Amino acid sequence: MPLSTALGAPRVVDVVPTLQTLRPEDVAGRVAVVIDVLRATSTIVAALGAGARDIRPVATPEEAQARLARLEASRGSREGLLLGGEREGFRLPGFDLGNSPLEYTPKTVAGKTIIFTTTNGTQTLRRAAGAHRTILVASFLNASAVAERLWTCPTGIVLACAGTRGGFSLEDTLLAGFLVDRLEKRAADPGAAVGDTSAAPGPFVFRDLARSAAALYRTLAGGRGEDLARVVVTADHARYLTSRGFGADVAYCASLDLVAVVPEYARGRVTLAAAGRRPVPNPRSG
Ligand code: MLT
Repeated sequence: MPLSTALGAPRVVDVVPTLQTLRPEDVAGRVAVVIDVLRATSTIVAALGAGARDIRPVATPEEAQARLARLEASRGSREGLLLGGEREGFRLPGFDLGNSPLEYTPKTVAGKTIIFTTTNGTQTLRRAAGAHRTILVASFLNASAVAERLWTCPTGIVLACAGTRGGFSLEDTLLAGFLVDRLEKRAADPGAAVGDTSAAPGPFVFRDLARSAAALYRTLAGGRGEDLARVVVTADHARYLTSRGFGADVAYCASLDLVAVVPEYARGRVTLAAAGRRPVPNPRSG
């Protein structure tokens, strides 16, 4: 029996296209998946995969500096603390790291707490946050692991795209479409459920924007994950980053399933469950 015919309550799957259009009612009672492919959520996945202890997303560079000062004062040392992030794509003055996932190697970040601020990605995480809410962090680097987690999640799901400069972003919507496509195909597969399905989550109900995102993924990438990179490099923000010398980041962020981890944001920190830790392949790790 496919899971979609089990008795649980229907699970609504929706997509919100931009940080600015994410409302409290979109996330209430649902699992939120924050997506900023270029580059914030890719960098978070890479950093945690490289062994960072945790990421503390903050809204502004000033807030990052203030948080660093507080942590330094309470620990009596700056040891183990890093500042990371960007504005206009570039590392901020006085920061240890920018927003390139390739900078976040095990040598640099293992065991470290990273206070992190980016233009859209960290704002989306903060906007999605709320008490008792599950917030997952998705990128192409960990896309299948996120899809797997969503398959069993008992509530509705909102795929919260950061977008670019207040508008639609192709790469974020493609990742949302990839995740919806995975769930749709699996729900339609009669062999998808094995064993006792009596306590299985309910069927998925895909809202208009979720269906549209999946259609976009199928149209532009042919529904093939391996063809995503070809499309992602043509996106507005990809072209901006490439023109500023970050072309290697774009190619890396478009790589599918380099790692099977699902970062979670709770109580002001993004972390991995210990069992989920595996090194993220990073060409700069040597
Ligand atoms: C953001 O959060 O707006 C992006 O990650 C910007 C960037 O590519 O550095």
